[in-house]
Amino acid sequence: MQSFFKQVVLSVSALFGLLAFGAMSAGAVTATQTSSVSAYFGELIGIITGDWQKYGGLFTYLQGNEYFMYVFLGIITIIPVIFALHLAIVGAKHFDHGGNQILFFPLFARIIHFIAAASFSALTITGLLIVTGHFFGGGPFIRLARYIHIFAAITATPAVLCMLIIWFKDMLPALCDIKWIFILGGYLSKKKVPIPAKKFNAGQKMWYWCAIPGGLLMLATGYIIWGFGAQLDYVRIAVMVHNVLGMIIVAFFLTHCYMSIFAIAGSLESMKTGYKPEEEVHILHSLHKYKPSDIKPAKHH
Ligand code: HEM
Repeated sequence: MQSFFKQVVLSVSALFGLLAFGAMSAGAVTATQTSSVSAYFGELIGIITGDWQKYGGLFTYLQGNEYFMYVFLGIITIIPVIFALHLAIVGAKHFDHGGNQILFFPLFARIIHFIAAASFSALTITGLLIVTGHFFGGGPFIRLARYIHIFAAITATPAVLCMLIIWFKDMLPALCDIKWIFILGGYLSKKKVPIPAKKFNAGQKMWYWCAIPGGLLMLATGYIIWGFGAQLDYVRIAVMVHNVLGMIIVAFFLTHCYMSIFAIAGSLESMKTGYKPEEEVHILHSLHKYKPSDIKPAKHH
C-alpha cells in the first residue's frame, strides 16, 4: 500500500507539472491561431517549404515525394507479415495459468499503462491518417483526426511521464540482456528453457527506451509543429524528427502489441489482473527476484 501511495504522489506531482504545461500550450496556440484551420495549415506548409535555405530543401524533397508516407505504409504492412510468419512457423509460447501466480503489475501501473495504450493507439491511427490524408481527400475527416491526435498527445503525456518514473529502475540495462539479445529471447525456438532476464527482458527494455524518451520527444516536436511559434528551421527539423521517430515508434509499437497479445498466450491477462503464471516467470524472467507476498497461491478445486 505504501509503494502505491508513493507512486501516486510522485505521479500526481508530475501530472500537475503537465497540466501547467498543457495550459501554456493552449495559450500559445490560441495566440497563433489564424482565421481557419485550412488557412493555418496552408500558412504552415507555405512557411516550411517557402524558403529553400537550410532544411527547406531536404524537407520538401522528403515530404514532396511522399517518402514519409511510403515508409509508414511499408512498416504497417511488412511488420505484421513478419509476425504472422513467426506465429505460423514457431507459434506462441504457452504457460500453465492454473498454478501459482506472481504479482508483476500493481494497480497503479496497470491504470497508467491503459491510458498510454489507448492514447498511443489513437496517436498511431490518427498519425497515419494525417500522413495519408490526401487519399481521404483531406477535409473534415482529416481535421477530426488532427484534433484527436492533439487530444491523445495531451492524455499520453502524463502516462508516459508516470511510466518513466515507476519502471525506470527495472528498465536499466543489465549484463543478462546481452545474452538475451544473442538468443532473441528464445522466441525463435519452441523449447521452454529458462531465459536470462530479470523483471523486464532486453526486448521490453528496448521498447521502453524507445516509447518513453521517444514519446516525450514526439510530444515536444508535436508541440513545435502545433504551436509553430518556433523559428523556421526548428519547425522543419521538428517535422522531420516527428516523422522519422514516428516510424521507429510505430514499428516498436506493433512489435509490442504482437509480443503482448500473440507471442505469449494469455499475456494480456497480466495487464488486466497484474499477475503472471509462476511458470512463465521462471522461464521468461528466470533471474527475476520476487517477494513471498507477491505470490498468489493456485486455487485447489
Ligand atoms: C494496444 C496497445 C497495447 C497493448 C495491448 C499492451 C499490452 C501490454 C501487456 C500485455 C504487457 C505485459 C507484457 C508482459 O510482461 O508479458 C505490457 C507491458 C508493457 N507495456 Fe504495453 N501495451 C500496449 C501499449 C503500450 C504503450 C503505448 C506503451 C508505452 C507508451 C506500453 C508500454 C509498456 C511497457 C513499458 C510494458 C512493460 C514491458 C513490456 O512488456 O514491454 N504499452 N503491455
